[in-house]
Amino acid sequence: MKVALGCDHAGFGLKELVSACLREAGHEVLDQGTFSESSCDYPDFAERVARLVSAGEAERGIAICGTGIGMAMTANKLPGVRAAACNDIYTARYSRLHNDANVLALGARVVGPGVAEEIVRTWMETPFEGGRHARRLERLAEIEGQHGGRRP
Ligand code: RB5
Repeated sequence: MKVALGCDHAGFGLKELVSACLREAGHEVLDQGTFSESSCDYPDFAERVARLVSAGEAERGIAICGTGIGMAMTANKLPGVRAAACNDIYTARYSRLHNDANVLALGARVVGPGVAEEIVRTWMETPFEGGRHARRLERLAEIEGQHGGRRP
């Protein structure tokens, strides 16, 4: 799979590890930076990852910051992006089964490297369950269409 990968300064170390794991598993990694631990702003890198997913140039995205929260908040602003901040294996699994999440946001200050690796593996390998969940995602897309870019 083509996977867009990005991080801020807090997520840099974990991004390198995740990148190696993804490549080892045979995925193509589109690394969107950042490329050092110098302080930067997470929305810039979440946007780069989400843009590729939204445009269909990457099938999945993984964005890493301190908590995963800022990355998920930003990525979810782009059309068609379903970003989930998952710092445990259960939510990673269900974000795929029930929500068909196409962006995983990870918190490098929350999870250690071993758990992060397992979260990524689980998230990459778990399929979407479809069925009643597909109906809910259709509704989600409808809501996005109704409110996209506008305040109610
Ligand atoms: C950076 O200090 C931190 O705020 C950022 O990595 C992230 O956790 C934001 O959601």
